[in-house]
Amino acid sequence: MGEHSIGQALAFLDWSTGKLSGAAVHESTKTLGDLRGIFSSERDWAKMDPTGVVYHVQWVTPPGADTEGGLLWGNTTIEPGTVGDEYFMTHGHFHLKPDRTEFYATTSGSGLLLLMDSARHTQIQEMSPGSLHHIGPGLAHRVINTGAEKLKILACWPSDAGHDYGTIAQQGFSVRVLRGSGSPRIV
Ligand code: PA5
Ligand code: NI
Repeated sequence: MGEHSIGQALAFLDWSTGKLSGAAVHESTKTLGDLRGIFSSERDWAKMDPTGVVYHVQWVTPPGADTEGGLLWGNTTIEPGTVGDEYFMTHGHFHLKPDRTEFYATTSGSGLLLLMDSARHTQIQEMSPGSLHHIGPGLAHRVINTGAEKLKILACWPSDAGHDYGTIAQQGFSVRVLRGSGSPRIV
């Protein structure tokens, strides 16, 4: 018989929500105050409570995540809401290593995924429960909650991908998603 040992799971996952629990889980919350300059209407943004939560992220860092080949797993919950007419969304980023790709999957809610290349061409994918999205090399990605409920997604990405937030902070995405009459307006 081979030698073996029985260890602990890294964390636990509630598949209906994506919520993680366990000692290896990290968390971060982004408020309206943290997202200055992200929404098109500075005027509407300034009227809102800066402590209001826009999204919450959880992720797990497995041992060895700091070496090439490592993976991270996480989730993001985006609250329903708007700043003026613009739906709540994530900051959005390119990966610092452009060849590092990522998976997103939707657990609940509805929204849109923006995928923008370096030439600022943007592809838009609809997110709904069960939708699986692949973020290819060199694509900036942002998630927008266009629904009335929380939008909950799972993500898996290489631990050395890195986040380039600066390019989006300076240049934004080439499209914005606004509340329309009936369906979202893409401008
Ligand atoms: O790695 C990812 O792409 C996600 O985990 C995001 O970091 C998360 O959805 C939050 O978005 P952002 O990092 O653009 O604020
Ligand atoms: Ni990413």
